[in-house]
Amino acid sequence: MVGNVLEIVDKLGRKEDKLIEILIELQNQSVYNYLSKDVIKEVAKLLDVSETKVYGIANFYSMLSTQKRGKHVIQICNSAPCYIKEGQHLVTIFEDILGIKIGEVTEDEMFSLEYTSCIGACDQAPAARIDEMIYGELDRSRVFNILATLRREETNE
Ligand code: FES
Repeated sequence: MVGNVLEIVDKLGRKEDKLIEILIELQNQSVYNYLSKDVIKEVAKLLDVSETKVYGIANFYSMLSTQKRGKHVIQICNSAPCYIKEGQHLVTIFEDILGIKIGEVTEDEMFSLEYTSCIGACDQAPAARIDEMIYGELDRSRVFNILATLRREETNE
């Protein structure tokens, strides 16, 4: 993976203002949907910025992660409008169906579960983002169907 870092940094530009773009691209190419220590170190070296700065960016943006994640990243909104509208219950639904707790990855490495702040779907609370897609008005049966569809798609690939 570290070999790809040079390629991506050169493609997007060796400039500090390209840092977020570079990190997103590198994470998209990671099997575990995250930025490893080695990748962060290499990016810092190539852009001539401190590792602390790269970690700071990677930890600030909810779409980036420095922890291994599943192939599909489930982010449950925990901002007030969603929280008030059964947001806590939604967490329990995902946890029950996947058999993991928030912050964990399923054994088959297919799904990881985490919180995020508002994803702009407050009118459809409670909401969650799975990869790039926003899902609103979530209840147990809708969550079950969404996860079943994602699993089916995986086995058909
Ligand atoms: S508060 Fe949950 S989507 Fe806005």
